[in-house]
Amino acid sequence: MKPINKILQGDALEILKKIDDDIIDVGVTSPPYNKGERHKGWLVKNVKYNKASDDTPESIYQREQIKVLNETFRITKLGGSFFYNHKTRWNKGVMIHPMKWLTRTKWVVRQEIIWDRMIAANIRGWRFWQIDERIYWLYKPRNNKKIGKELKSKHALISSIWRFPPERKNEHPAPFPLELPTRIVYSILDGEKGLVLDPYVGSGTTLVAAKLLGCDYIGIDISREYIDEAKKRVTNCEVERRILEEELEKHKVRKTFEERKLNGEFTGRFRNGDLIKQKGLF
Ligand SMILES: C[S@@+](CC[C@H](N)C(=O)[O-])C[C@H]1O[C@@H](n2cnc3c(N)ncnc32)[C@H](O)[C@@H]1O
Repeated sequence: MKPINKILQGDALEILKKIDDDIIDVGVTSPPYNKGERHKGWLVKNVKYNKASDDTPESIYQREQIKVLNETFRITKLGGSFFYNHKTRWNKGVMIHPMKWLTRTKWVVRQEIIWDRMIAANIRGWRFWQIDERIYWLYKPRNNKKIGKELKSKHALISSIWRFPPERKNEHPAPFPLELPTRIVYSILDGEKGLVLDPYVGSGTTLVAAKLLGCDYIGIDISREYIDEAKKRVTNCEVERRILEEELEKHKVRKTFEERKLNGEFTGRFRNGDLIKQKGLF
């Protein structure tokens, strides 16, 4: 099936299996992290989904994620991308890194992006305050070539450390901010239309970005309630356009590196150790 502009209710893996091969241009998702619901944070609300447990034996969780990732690979076009938001976790003091299961999927891991959230729920002294998450750019090679097409420089000039605070004006327990899927879809498709996937769609943030950028979408979530909210949000997405426009402003090249160099202007991003504050990077 090719359920264009639909949000489907059910288990991500089971629904993905029914979708046609090679139809998705770009995907963005944040799956449940298997954080174990008993570990409560106290600074912000604890993450608890209404229709799914976030407390599965780790080996079963990783096996399931590999299957979901391989199904997203199958339904993605050659040369297509999937951005997978996750984080490093610890179980009884042993670190669990997402690369542990990502390297066992069919995807090529093209980049690891650090998402600096600036705040996080748990503050305990076992280790430094973990305010980072990761976003993995996964790539489906064309003709076995793992490098792929270059990004336009206006997108590539955005660094591999992304700083956005978590979303606060949203009833969903774990939404990401609209800037995040906007940055991804806009950088990969560069304003062209395409088909965007989010198999753990939650409050529909990825679909809002897709629709505002003129793309089609497919969303999946296990919770009927979250889907109902996501549908309302997508219908009323115009109210969020300002946030999207602010993100797009960051992808403007005002003067190319070459123009600056020819004029004898400063070409770096830092002067005397300080980041130069300007709206666009160049
Ligand atoms: C981290 S949240 C996604 C939030 C989303 N990025 C947003 O901005 O709102 C993960 C979502 O996965 C859903 N979920 C959990 N297990 C699932 C499963 N097996 N199949 C499909 N969806 C599932 C939860 O209901 C939750 O909405």
